[in-house]
Amino acid sequence: MCGIVGYIGPKAVDSVLIVGLEKLEYRGYDSAGIAYFDRNEISIIKEKGRIADLEEQIKKYPVEGHIGIGHTRWATHGEPSKVNAHPHMNRDKTIAVVQNGIIENYLELKTELKSLGYMFISETDTEVLPHMIDRYVKEGFDLEKAFVKTLHRLDGKYAIAMIGEKNPDRVYFAKDGAPLILAEGENLSGKKELLLASDVPAFVPLAKSAYYLNDGEWGYFDSTIHLFDRPGAQINAFMEPVAIKLEDISLGEYEHFMRKEIYEQPEMLERILAERIVNNETIEFSELKFPREYLSKVARFIIQACGTSLNSGMIGKLYLEQVAKKMADADYSSEFRYRNPVAGGDTLVIGISQSGETADTLAGLREAKSKFLKVLSFVNNINSTIARESDGVIHLMAGPEIGVASTKAYTAQLTHMLLFAYHVADISWLLTSEEKRDLIKELKTIPDKMRKILQYETKIKEIAERLKNRNSVLFLGRTWNHATALEGALKLKEISYIHAEGYAAGEFKHGPIALVSAEVPVVVVAPKGEMRTKLISNLQEVKARNGEVFAIVTEGDDELASLADAVLEVPESSEILSPLLTILPLQLLSYHTAILRGCDVDKPRNLAKSVTVE
Ligand code: F6R
Repeated sequence: MCGIVGYIGPKAVDSVLIVGLEKLEYRGYDSAGIAYFDRNEISIIKEKGRIADLEEQIKKYPVEGHIGIGHTRWATHGEPSKVNAHPHMNRDKTIAVVQNGIIENYLELKTELKSLGYMFISETDTEVLPHMIDRYVKEGFDLEKAFVKTLHRLDGKYAIAMIGEKNPDRVYFAKDGAPLILAEGENLSGKKELLLASDVPAFVPLAKSAYYLNDGEWGYFDSTIHLFDRPGAQINAFMEPVAIKLEDISLGEYEHFMRKEIYEQPEMLERILAERIVNNETIEFSELKFPREYLSKVARFIIQACGTSLNSGMIGKLYLEQVAKKMADADYSSEFRYRNPVAGGDTLVIGISQSGETADTLAGLREAKSKFLKVLSFVNNINSTIARESDGVIHLMAGPEIGVASTKAYTAQLTHMLLFAYHVADISWLLTSEEKRDLIKELKTIPDKMRKILQYETKIKEIAERLKNRNSVLFLGRTWNHATALEGALKLKEISYIHAEGYAAGEFKHGPIALVSAEVPVVVVAPKGEMRTKLISNLQEVKARNGEVFAIVTEGDDELASLADAVLEVPESSEILSPLLTILPLQLLSYHTAILRGCDVDKPRNLAKSVTVE
């Protein structure tokens, strides 16, 4: 939620900041702004709306300067508007601040500042920062001390960048709870450039190396990085090479990141399998440092996650139960963190998160740690806070996911949960070599089966045409594909704004069936397997009430095809692997429905990709 950038270097500051903000737009897109030094004075340009709107403004006011900060906002305090857009300034316009996160005690600080005569023009929590820094400067502290004194007054979770006229060659920064990365690049003339951003894509391809700040760290950069810990001791910023390539975060031949990321799934799966499966017989997680003796003795797994990641976690729970024969639960992080969970010392708490920054999932892991439980995270961003705070980490290896609607991260999560369950079963002596070989053999057929589904896109578009004017759509699935129904509904509602709900099909008769009518179609996820006949009954109940049924079926399932109004086929697989296939048509269905409705699929309204506030 919200993205911040900062730059010092030989390039025109506006172009670097704008390119960075565009790459961070997935974090929020309500308003945006930049502040920069123009001949030692701070200038500011901001605009409601997208980065493109800010760019239009910038074109009107030629920018000269090489030092600046920028922000793209997802509104928390105060509506999306120009006045609430960051950067925020003090009254003298000598200090400009951008912030990602939340200042929880801002009302208290605001009251204090008001009593000192400070006036506020926005409704944001961030505006207290430039005023508080200004206050300390006016009390006689230099800018650096005033910045630090202000940091010590804050409660909350934030990443901050600041420029101030007292130090026109510096960009100040601080991190406590929200991500912040420093980076170093070199331009063609060999001049060093320094950057900061909420996420790595903001400085690709400029930066060659990066440093991920820890909570409590702060500092500034001028011609070099000056980094301090919370008590103020100087520390080294150990830079790591930037692994992300420009093509990983560019659209290439695609019009939208969501479609690109859907299409990346077969290759992604091949990459994951190549990395995880050794000699065609062993499943390995080289980054997972848990001793085998520990993992095999875990009696219970509690998976906690949000949104799409929880949907994959629900299937992960089944994998752990059915394959590894372990007790397993899956829960909303936002509930888990507050329900004072009861768990024994032989419980392992799992957090699943694409971004690795989701506030509730992080809080769930912290809650588990406070009860002395071990925590394992499945994350796509290996440098994220969740990864760093976990006892063990499994890297999802999906590559950067930019589209706000999660697609490839979901199948990467499913694959890793499946492999993890097999790994646990293996080290617990529950698997025969033959069973392992069979799984691996079948898993390796899945990428080509995914490719085949992608070839059915025209058919999927036809069904999207039939959905595009509906107000409501229901999704049904059972066991392995109950979460597929939930995920299909989540995808449709978040990007097309059509109301959609997923249900465990067995629950349908206990209430939801009342919603069925000629206007409310039902999508039934019914690949071949134990639950298929049960789902046929559900389908018939819908038909008997004039409902239209679209079914996800196994290729060649003529019986189901004859009962449904239209079908989308997936190649045959064992039931346990079917969720890796059945979700693809639903991802494309929501994509095309949203496109037909004229929605912005990569940046759906009200959403941000990384939900770093509660
Ligand atoms: C839906 C979606 C969200 C995320 C959720 C958790 O398409 O993207 O529901 O899955 O916000 O995010 P992560 O996985 O980053 O913790």
